[in-house]
Amino acid sequence: MNHGTDFKTFLGINHEKSPAKHGTSLTELGDSEFRALYDSMGELLAPSLVRDWPNIPIRSAKGCCFYGLDGREYLDFTSGMATMNTGHCHPKVLEAARLQMERLVHAAVGVAMYESILRLAEELKRITPGDLNMFFFSNSGAEAVEGAIKLAKYVTRRPAVVAFTGGFHGRTVGAMTVTSSKVKYRTHYEPLMSGVYHVPYAYCFRCPVGKSHPSCALECLGFIETLFKRLVDPSEVAAFILEPMQGEGGYVLPPREWLEAIREICSKHDIKLIFDEVQTGFGRTGSWFAAQSLGVTPDILAIAKGIASGFPLSAVAAPAELMKAWPTGAHGTTFGGNPVSCRAALATIEVIEEEGLLDNAKKMGKAALDRLASWKGKYPVVGDVRGIGLMIGIEFVKPDGKLEPNPEAVTEVLRRCLDEGLILYPCGVDGHVIRFIPPLIVDEETLRKGLDIFERAVAGVCR
Ligand SMILES: Cc1ncc(COP(=O)(O)O)c(C=O)c1O
Repeated sequence: MNHGTDFKTFLGINHEKSPAKHGTSLTELGDSEFRALYDSMGELLAPSLVRDWPNIPIRSAKGCCFYGLDGREYLDFTSGMATMNTGHCHPKVLEAARLQMERLVHAAVGVAMYESILRLAEELKRITPGDLNMFFFSNSGAEAVEGAIKLAKYVTRRPAVVAFTGGFHGRTVGAMTVTSSKVKYRTHYEPLMSGVYHVPYAYCFRCPVGKSHPSCALECLGFIETLFKRLVDPSEVAAFILEPMQGEGGYVLPPREWLEAIREICSKHDIKLIFDEVQTGFGRTGSWFAAQSLGVTPDILAIAKGIASGFPLSAVAAPAELMKAWPTGAHGTTFGGNPVSCRAALATIEVIEEEGLLDNAKKMGKAALDRLASWKGKYPVVGDVRGIGLMIGIEFVKPDGKLEPNPEAVTEVLRRCLDEGLILYPCGVDGHVIRFIPPLIVDEETLRKGLDIFERAVAGVCR
């Protein structure tokens, strides 16, 4: 027996593994090799990462399309989960990232300072609402949400945060605590962050006080009054956090006056209003931010997803006076504001402006909303259609007139769409809503093609 090997094993350092199975990092696998690897996915990647819909193996993507390992073209009307607003692999974004990669890939902010992050801050200052003119960069939506909450708590020295039922803000502990879109995101993680209170969102289709808008006179605001009277004094509240249109929670668009009223309550009590525009931002609603589409300006803005066309980047935006009260060490990051991501974000802003994507989102959004809204009444499973710009939700109900959520219809519609090469994605507490979020570059013909497939699927379910 070889004593050397025994000794290594004894020390637990016998980690030699077989050589890489699939060539070098510069080799692309053949179809059958990729297929075999895909089939072993369940042994390689955590189910929490990969078990989702529809999980098709793809080779590449361009514009509005995925190119599958099966040789088929798929319309990606999920936009890589509301991220690829400029379409997949936009040449300008790729070119900008390539240029940056050849010069500088990473330099921890503070140790060094580079051009792309400063230029991006200047550009964001130009396009963000109100006086949100100073930025903290991070990598993901959840991180931006954490940053926004930390900033609000730090500058106000107040302990509590108010969030809204149905909100989704991410998977880190703080973000998870303000999330209430589905219980599965919170199960087995209690206790979460303390001092968080949830009040109902203005989900008019399923009104929390059983009324109709506008005759309700925004009675649901009474929940906030009760909260302040019974549970937490407003002087203890650092922030309200909400999505100006809920995403994961069911694509719920609240009445503008409700948002205005929330703004007023926050201003009255010196509470920071945080808009989580991780999903609604970067052109999705037809303006740079939903704050602008809806005419309500927050004190703090969380931005991610579409900001860098798929490169990981997020940001917290706030007025300089607030940011300046948040000193060195009170927050920080290693990768946040990565040079390549910032350069990709600069290119993203250019593309959105040069190609008129905000106007396109408005125009295509209106065409889509008009057609989708006409399905109410025509198809008894379509209960509600709502949205702004190219962020549209279609809520499915049981056809018995009682408006019960109908996740089974959603599953069947999604499956039928996939069969015809259209990828859509569900949301809502019962998985009973379909989000319609094509890339903002979508043209009339592609939009029509997607809607035709979608309508055939809905009609098929109703047959
Ligand atoms: C509104 C909203 N906030 C936060 C997040 C979390 O973003 P991320 O997955 O990048 O952490 C999401 C993700 O879907 C989101 O939709």
